[in-house]
Amino acid sequence: MRGLGEYLDKFKETKMIIFAGKGGLGKTTCSAALAYYLAVKKGKKTLCFSTDPQASLSDIFERDLFGKGEVEVAPNLYVVEIDADKRIRDYIEDVKRKIKEMYKMEEIPQEIESYIETSAVEPAMYESATYDAMVEYLVSGKYDYYIFDMPPFGHGVRMIAMAEVLSAWVEKITEAREKAREYDEIAARLRGGSPLSEDAILKELYDIRSRLSYFRDIMLDRNKTGFFMVMTPENMSILDTEKALKMFNELGLTLSGIVVNQVLPPEMINNPSPLIARRAEVQQKYLSVIKDKFGKYIVSVIPMFDREPKGLKMLEKVASYLVENPLQI
Ligand SMILES: Nc1ncnc2c1ncn2[C@@H]1O[C@H](COP(=O)(O)OP(=O)(O)O)[C@@H](O)[C@H]1O
Ligand SMILES: [Mg+2]
Repeated sequence: MRGLGEYLDKFKETKMIIFAGKGGLGKTTCSAALAYYLAVKKGKKTLCFSTDPQASLSDIFERDLFGKGEVEVAPNLYVVEIDADKRIRDYIEDVKRKIKEMYKMEEIPQEIESYIETSAVEPAMYESATYDAMVEYLVSGKYDYYIFDMPPFGHGVRMIAMAEVLSAWVEKITEAREKAREYDEIAARLRGGSPLSEDAILKELYDIRSRLSYFRDIMLDRNKTGFFMVMTPENMSILDTEKALKMFNELGLTLSGIVVNQVLPPEMINNPSPLIARRAEVQQKYLSVIKDKFGKYIVSVIPMFDREPKGLKMLEKVASYLVENPLQI
């Protein structure tokens, strides 16, 4: 096992790397470390984007990044921690403005207003807003690499399934809108009036559709997107990774690799502290289960550090294990 660097050498067209897995095991840490490596060590323009509601890129980079857009924290290294709630509010305002413009209204009727407001608080809105931001950054094409730190729910796999659902949904609405447009045109012609002006809604739908399909094509292309699961030598994490693998298979996706994090080096079994010695021993047991079950997927093993990895110096250290010199197990 030679680290994520080997993967990057092999898959040279890679644009997007996604870290997924249960919360608290090291997704954000791995995302930040890989982004640091690509930007600072390789000189690639890299975006590290957090989609986690409990985003902690601010913590790791020791900068307040929340809702501030793209912040350059080191040469070539840009970090985004999106404020999904604000994005939803802005979007709602935009929708209202467009409706008013299109129908030449001063005020939006109460029923429609409350309908719009209700949809803003749907839980799926949060995911949609996050997803939309991801798509926007990727479509902008400004970066060599996009690193996405996924929220824990559904192992981030839900985000992928969402591409399918959203595409199908947009397709349906577009069809409905096209039909309505046809009728409007017939009605206008019958009245002997002038042809309708451009349909702003339809234009926006076409726009969303093309952005979504661009994103989907990259995400589902093994040569352009790498999905990595982060796990730890614990029973819960093993069960969880099995579940995620199953979800991947069901969606017809390929898992690019597994990163095992927070590993106590094997020699710790002889540590004078009985607590550490015992923990190391238990970890060894789970590590052999991990090798059995997921051996072919393991790309990197990162040791447990004596403190939370934070700041660029520490990220450099994490990156060296993640990318070039994994702990050998
Ligand atoms: N190898 C490690 N050694 C020590 N602490 C770690 C290590 N990896 C992650 N941590 C710490 O564990 C916690 C969870 O890591 P994080 O990357 O935020 O996980 P996630 O994003 O998956 O929730 C953080 O406090 C982080 O600093
Ligand atoms: Mg996180």
